[in-house]
Amino acid sequence: MTFTALVLNQQDKRTLATVEQLDDSALPQGDVTVNVDYSSLNYKDGLAITGRGRIIREFPMVPGIDFVGRVEQSSDARYQVGDSVVLTGWGVGENHWGGMAQKARVNADWLVPLVAGLTPQQSMMIGTAGLTAMLCVQTLIDAGIQPDRGEVVVTGASGGVGSVAVCLLSQLGYQVAAVTGRLEQNGPMLTQLGANRIIDRSEFEQDARPLEKQMWAGAVDTVGSKVLAKVLSQMDYNGAVAACGLAGGFDLPTTVMPFILRNVSLRGVDSVQCPYAQRMHAWQRLAELLPASYFETACREVSLDEAAACADAITQGQITGRVLIKL
Ligand SMILES: NC(=O)c1ccc[n+]([C@@H]2O[C@H](COP(=O)([O-])OP(=O)(O)OC[C@H]3O[C@@H](n4cnc5c(N)ncnc54)[C@H](OP(=O)(O)O)[C@@H]3O)[C@@H](O)[C@H]2O)c1
Repeated sequence: MTFTALVLNQQDKRTLATVEQLDDSALPQGDVTVNVDYSSLNYKDGLAITGRGRIIREFPMVPGIDFVGRVEQSSDARYQVGDSVVLTGWGVGENHWGGMAQKARVNADWLVPLVAGLTPQQSMMIGTAGLTAMLCVQTLIDAGIQPDRGEVVVTGASGGVGSVAVCLLSQLGYQVAAVTGRLEQNGPMLTQLGANRIIDRSEFEQDARPLEKQMWAGAVDTVGSKVLAKVLSQMDYNGAVAACGLAGGFDLPTTVMPFILRNVSLRGVDSVQCPYAQRMHAWQRLAELLPASYFETACREVSLDEAAACADAITQGQITGRVLIKL
């Protein structure tokens, strides 16, 4: 039996991505074999496929940090043949062959069942980015940031994590300010997703003073660096920031002032090793909260042949919303 996969190899220190036919015997070790229906494109996939980030250390590698599919074979009692399963994180697509292939073989502990209320296609329109957005929103809720506390700002708003975060916050009744570098191109989409106002990213890219005018009860930051520093300096007293990304850089040129004078908390969010119960809760909330209009407004589907070009675009900040990869 053979299957189609995007395969990454390295030649002269450059990463090459080609669509290949592989034999089932090439699949890695694992207790569940899955017929993959969809994967999705995430920022980390972009870094891996283009080789712009040191995501992959062993080649050949099949990228794809998430997938949805049906169980073909299982030696784990939790999963039976035909079950719909979803995988995000756990180093899949980084150090274990990932979802950009018609077949994957993984550890059963890494899987979750597809939750009721989502189609397989919708689950990957959400994918790692959407799951992370939900974890960020839950982090703000856990920090006591209720809608009546004031406005919540989302940075990198037209990207995968950002667009889902805008939509989820709006559905939960928050006033949402969306920060984007592509105001003209993506303003209408962000308004449709529920942003109450849209702010040009350039306003967040100047050096921040240690403390600026208080503007935000909460924040979801996908960008890091100067943008996150600016957000921190503008947080309300007792405000909370959920930080999950580094699209603008992994540094953080800030001071302790927001923390020690305004009681601001900076909370990190990781989806890769998020425990099972928290993951399932997030998936259930996503199924309840995301309206059909999200999937229509912010998602598009591409073939495996188009994945490498999309990977290049996402590392350049040129992808809007979520890209679904059909296997
Ligand atoms: N912690 C986790 O578990 C986890 C999980 C998923 C993703 N992430 C991280 O979250 C971030 C977003 O991921 P994603 O999949 O949503 O990527 P994405 O779709 O590319 O979104 C990132 C957005 O950030 C903005 N941006 C891009 N380049 C920028 C730059 N140089 N300076 C400032 N803003 C920039 C763009 O939005 P605008 O054009 O609207 O400004 C872009 O759409 C990435 O850093 C990713 O690694 C972390």
